[in-house]
Amino acid sequence: MTSKVRLCPVADVKDGEPVGVFLEQLPALAVYNVDGDIFVTNNMCTHGNAMLTDGYQDGGIIECPFHGGSFDIATGAAKAFPCQVAIKTYPVRIEDGWVCIDQL
Ligand code: FES
Repeated sequence: MTSKVRLCPVADVKDGEPVGVFLEQLPALAVYNVDGDIFVTNNMCTHGNAMLTDGYQDGGIIECPFHGGSFDIATGAAKAFPCQVAIKTYPVRIEDGWVCIDQL
């Protein structure tokens, strides 16, 4: 059985206000609420040294705080220049009110 990592309580993730999660042994992660659905991606922009949780969430899109690039939160696909490389996404499971991903 794959073990899970608890990231944060679901209740802490408000729609449009992504939450950064920084745990040992894991890359910096971003947790999003998009219309009640929870998603997890890497937090670091693939274009530079920016945390996406410092950016601006517009529905299912996260805009990087640095150069105006953006990503699709659900798929990780780059959506706006200068971002061209997708961000990694993680399958999410909700357990006991916590946002969880599989142990990496
Ligand atoms: Fe994110 Fe440049 S660092 S768009």
